[in-house]
Amino acid sequence: MGPSDVQSADEDCLSASPAQPVCCRSVPKRLIQDVTHTQVPGYDQRMVLSTVVPDAIWVSERAVWFAGVRLRARSTVVRLADRRLLIHSPPQPSRELCDALDALGQIAYLVVPNCFHHLATPAFAAKYPSATVVGPRSAAAKNPDLKLHQELHVDIVRAALPEFAALALDGCPFLDETVLFHRPTGSLIGADLVISACAKDHFTWRWAARLTGCYDRICVPPDVRSRTRPSADLAHAIDRMTSLPLERILVAHCDPIVDRPAAQLAEAWQFGGATRR
Ligand SMILES: [Fe+2]
Repeated sequence: MGPSDVQSADEDCLSASPAQPVCCRSVPKRLIQDVTHTQVPGYDQRMVLSTVVPDAIWVSERAVWFAGVRLRARSTVVRLADRRLLIHSPPQPSRELCDALDALGQIAYLVVPNCFHHLATPAFAAKYPSATVVGPRSAAAKNPDLKLHQELHVDIVRAALPEFAALALDGCPFLDETVLFHRPTGSLIGADLVISACAKDHFTWRWAARLTGCYDRICVPPDVRSRTRPSADLAHAIDRMTSLPLERILVAHCDPIVDRPAAQLAEAWQFGGATRR
């Protein structure tokens, strides 16, 4: 999601833009990099996967456009306890990305995190037909090509993926998002839970982020905020997330949040009633 004045469509609609997805532009010189080695502003378009937690979590980043604003959109790859892979918010399955993923392991789960990040999942599922597609009914209702095998529900995740805790963002039906907490790494994985812009971002998003208070600041996507009212359910949902032993928060449209992740999440959602940390 992005600024309220520039984005109201599903995330994958952003890819239907004048810009090509970055991972399709060129053949990567290397398929995987350590994200901590990225020193120059902007991201290296040749890289398909960046390591967040060695041997456990990677991200794939691409450019997405909407109404003249270019965001970075990120998908998260998690190695499960059985060494198979979970792809959170799948992107278009480019050859380079599939090669990199195939080198990591078998893809077992494709997770649609909310009712916006869903349009590339059918193509990914077609590429990996043995993968279990998990997502909210609201996404399937919007996308007839999206065939869910399991609902993204707390109880289902608990049974199928015991290394995760699923936490629904109650009180925010606009997103209908459920985030995953990966216990072994202390990683809270979401999509549009929060957003931010930084010097790495395209000037269009930097400009819009300054106008909307999202530059160098973790905040709720303005369009989400404008459609969400404070409530006890919302406050409870965020408080549950911030009470977890968070090492980092991984979302779709900003870098990993590793500095005071619980406090920054609480601050972003304080308008909704979240308790300050
Ligand atoms: Fe998004």
